[in-house]
Amino acid sequence: MKAMVKPGHALIVLFWVFAPAHALAASVTGWDMEAFEPELQNQPSMQRGFRLYVNYCLGCHSLQFQRYERTADDLGIPHDIALESLIFTNQKVGDLMTTAMDLEGAKKWFGAPPPDLTMITRVRDPEWLYNYLKTFYVDETRPFGVNNRVFPNVGMPHVLADLQGLQVEACDDATECSELFLVEGSGSLSETEYDQAVRDITNFLHYVGDPSRVERYRLGIYVLLFLVILGVFTYLLNREIWKDVH
Ligand code: HEC
Repeated sequence: MKAMVKPGHALIVLFWVFAPAHALAASVTGWDMEAFEPELQNQPSMQRGFRLYVNYCLGCHSLQFQRYERTADDLGIPHDIALESLIFTNQKVGDLMTTAMDLEGAKKWFGAPPPDLTMITRVRDPEWLYNYLKTFYVDETRPFGVNNRVFPNVGMPHVLADLQGLQVEACDDATECSELFLVEGSGSLSETEYDQAVRDITNFLHYVGDPSRVERYRLGIYVLLFLVILGVFTYLLNREIWKDVH
């Protein structure tokens, strides 16, 4: 028997192929995702994100496919500065960004081991990550006293609480708790500064997910310039050749 594809099926397949991943992700927990566009041309932002990452995340989450050296080179950070201010372990600049976290222990402490984050913006997406880091809120029923809007019952503590401060739910009635409010003065950064910090971490992790993308953007500009110049000469040559024919 011949395999048949009904037109209706083909349409459904096409829908899933072309449906933007973030539109689907947004509805999973019902949290209204705040839009986020990664900026891979923003080198200072990725440098700050790198710094925040080694200070607040690397203790638990490795980047096991990423070397300090490559990261420093791609983000325009001299090696001696990277060694001095970004590598706190006895690792060398050529080493992979692994963590000393004991994974078996971590499973016991947190309920789940902290996953490697090299591919996180490809497994999830940058917008998800941005919203995740902004939506920890106080929930006394959880082991670390916090819960998360886009990753309910996550095992991770709110490691950026010093910076952001604490958020609490505002409930209209017993069932409708859609908004989060920041407890005034509970963090060391203002809301805009915290937004920027989270933007920086997300930009950095988006770079890590595909380090050659930054290079490709740079190359792409040269390729386009080359094509424009080539186009001008082709046009002139074309005119020259046809001049005598007409
Ligand atoms: C104290 C250890 C610890 C630190 C520090 C930490 N995390 Fe986590 N993180 C965890 C654990 C444990 C999980 C797994 C939770 C689960 O699956 O329930 C997790 C999960 C995550 C996830 C979800 C991964 C997934 O399953 O898709 C992301 C994203 C994440 N962390 C980002 C970060 C970032 C960014 C930082 C730094 C700002 C950070 N974490 C700092 C322990 C930590």
